[in-house]
Amino acid sequence: MCGIVGYVGRSASGHTAEEVVLDGLRRMEYRGYDSAGVAFVTPDGRLASAKKAGKLASLLDELGEHPLPDALTGIGHTRWATHGGPTDANAHPHVSDGGRLALIHNGIIENFAELKDEMDGDEYLSETDTEVVAHLLAREYRVDNDLAAAMRRTTARLEGAFTLLAVHADLPGTVVGARRNSPLVIGLGDGENFLGSDVAAFIAYSKEAVEIGQDQIVTITPSSVDITDSDGNPVSGNAYHVDWDAAEAEKGGFASFMAKEIADQPAAVADTLRGRTDQTGRLMLDEMHIEESVMRSVDKIIVIACGTASYAGQVARYAVEHWCRIPVEVELAHEFRYRDPVVTEKTLVVAVSQSGETMDTIMAVRHAREQGAKVVAICNTYGSTIPRESDGALYTHAGPEIAVASTKAFLAQITACYLLGLYLAQLRGNMFADEISDKLGELHRMPGKIAEVLGRMGEVETLAHSMADATSVLFLGRHVGFPVALEGALKLKELAYIHAEGFAAGELKHGPIALIEDGQPVFMIVPTKSGRHSLHAKVVSNIQEVRARGARTLVIAEEGDEDVRKYAEHVVYVPRCPTLMAPLLTVVPLQVFAMELATAKGLDVDQPRNLAKSVTVE
Ligand code: F6R
Repeated sequence: MCGIVGYVGRSASGHTAEEVVLDGLRRMEYRGYDSAGVAFVTPDGRLASAKKAGKLASLLDELGEHPLPDALTGIGHTRWATHGGPTDANAHPHVSDGGRLALIHNGIIENFAELKDEMDGDEYLSETDTEVVAHLLAREYRVDNDLAAAMRRTTARLEGAFTLLAVHADLPGTVVGARRNSPLVIGLGDGENFLGSDVAAFIAYSKEAVEIGQDQIVTITPSSVDITDSDGNPVSGNAYHVDWDAAEAEKGGFASFMAKEIADQPAAVADTLRGRTDQTGRLMLDEMHIEESVMRSVDKIIVIACGTASYAGQVARYAVEHWCRIPVEVELAHEFRYRDPVVTEKTLVVAVSQSGETMDTIMAVRHAREQGAKVVAICNTYGSTIPRESDGALYTHAGPEIAVASTKAFLAQITACYLLGLYLAQLRGNMFADEISDKLGELHRMPGKIAEVLGRMGEVETLAHSMADATSVLFLGRHVGFPVALEGALKLKELAYIHAEGFAAGELKHGPIALIEDGQPVFMIVPTKSGRHSLHAKVVSNIQEVRARGARTLVIAEEGDEDVRKYAEHVVYVPRCPTLMAPLLTVVPLQVFAMELATAKGLDVDQPRNLAKSVTVE
């Protein structure tokens, strides 16, 4: 929620602040897109700013009509509104000190009203919780004309979550930032330095990043980066190299980021699996940093996550319980934290998050650790808060996910959860080495099968375009097909704004069947027929039940399954694979269906309304 960019350079660096900040905002727009703004400090000490409601394009139009002076220092913000609607006035930056100081903010200042009551004499132009911070910072700056010290004193008064960046007309060549419970990372350059909500903000210019810890203040100039703690003591941030490049955060010829990310899925799974075994084939999860004896003693696993990431956890539960015989609970992070869960030192909490910055999940991680649990993060974003605050991490290697609705991260999360499950089974002796290597072999065959599914999506596109006027779609599945049904429904809701529900097919007769009327579209995820415990016959009965009541039955089934044809209006076949691997295939047609239906309705699939990529507020 809200993307933040900061830049300082010299003319010799060859970039202007406007170029870098606007490029950063373009890459950050997925974090929030209801308004955008910039502020620049010119070398001769003038502050110039512009802001506009609407997507970044509106700000670009404004800058086209009213250009700002050339500058080498600047900050930029793309907003997801919390306090105050998406208007020009509520857009950031907020300006104070007679138009000489500009501030941008991501997060929520919980005590903004009290601060406002305490401070007289300032003029407020917006309804945001941020503007009061700009005025407070200006007051503190006037005390000693030291912007970093002023930021320290200001943040000491704030309650809530924030990333703040500020510039002052007195200080061409300086940007000061601070963070608490919201993301901020430094990018190192040669004669220039960068700040961003995540590395995408500056990836086109630098791949050398430095983490900024909780409650730290950072000052960047073209030649220096100074980080201090809240008392002003110098601290050294953790530096790391970013292993993806700018091209990965571009559409690469696809119509949308979502289309590209769906196409990236075979690679996302393959890259997440890569390099996980030693020469003997034993699984090695080096990044975990949790002692083997601790992992052996785990007696319960709780997966905490939100949205799509929680559905990845739900898929994984079936596999991990089956392989490791450890009870697995999957809980929405915001529910976990507030319900006094039973957590002990033998509980392994697995926090699944693409961004690593989801506030609900961060809070749940902290809660779990306070109760003594060990926490492993499954995360796609190196250096983000969730892996940093966990005992260990297992990174998914899906590459940057820019489209707001998650696709490739979901497949990579299931893959990483499966690796963790097999690793636990190996450590605890639940499975023989050859069984584990069979399962790894099955996983390694999945990227090729996902690519096959992608090659057959023409029929799903046609189906989606023929259903552009649908008002409600239901999704049914059993076992691992159930979380896939939930994910299919979520994708359709968020991309196409269509009422959609996912149900466990066995639950149908306990209520949801009342929704079925003539013409109601119902997607059914049909499991394989093979195996002693196949639920195939049961799901086929469910198809018959809804069809008998007039439903349009749209079926995802394994190739060669001719039984379903009799009862299905439309069948999408996916390659054969073992039951536990099937979600990696069956979800793909549902992603494509939602994307294409939204496209048919003329909607922006990368930036659905009301949403933002990283939900950094509770
Ligand atoms: C849905 C979606 C969200 C996220 C959820 C968690 O398409 O993208 O439901 O999965 O907000 O986000 P992360 O994984 O970043 O913690």
